[in-house]
Amino acid sequence: MTLRWDTEIELPEHTDTEDLGAALAAELRAGDLVVLSGPLGAGKTVLVRGIARGLGVAGPVTSPTFVIAREHRPLSDGAGVPLVHVDAYRLGTGGVDVAAELDDLDLDTDLAEAVVVVEWGEGVAERLAARHVLVRLHRRPDDVRVASVHRVRTVAGAFAEPAP
Ligand SMILES: Nc1ncnc2c1ncn2[C@@H]1O[C@H](COP(=O)(O)OP(=O)(O)O)[C@@H](O)[C@H]1O
Ligand SMILES: [Mg+2]
Repeated sequence: MTLRWDTEIELPEHTDTEDLGAALAAELRAGDLVVLSGPLGAGKTVLVRGIARGLGVAGPVTSPTFVIAREHRPLSDGAGVPLVHVDAYRLGTGGVDVAAELDDLDLDTDLAEAVVVVEWGEGVAERLAARHVLVRLHRRPDDVRVASVHRVRTVAGAFAEPAP
């Protein structure tokens, strides 16, 4: 799949969502933050599975609802970048310092050296980095998932429009 930015992408099957994640992974570098927004069951964790495949990291990707964050080390034939998968739903919302909470988790992985993907992160995770990739996912009544992928800059904590 070729990644198209700032347009709606229809994802009829869960394998399409995974393929989108793999295509996005090809654009990601160490230190990048990806924020996944969308309701429960939209396919956020499925997308992370594709990102993990694209990066080439170890371990099954499952919803980290109970562990808050899961670290996936790079495999020798992958991109060499670890993946940190966070479920921000378990972190506080509204004015909470997510960076501090992540710091408190005392992860083994240096976040600056990893790709960090945060589920439910819109409005919460922006303060982690000056820019991030935002993936919006929703589920249409016909069950097809629709995604859009944006590059977003955060200026002094303000939420800027997706960059062109
Ligand atoms: N096109 C699709 N994309 C992603 N998931 C899909 C799709 N169609 C059906 N599904 C199913 O919907 C569920 C999505 O779950 P999950 O990725 O855990 O959602 P979230 O993390 O957003 O709560 C999975 O059971 C998956 O198999
Ligand atoms: Mg999930």
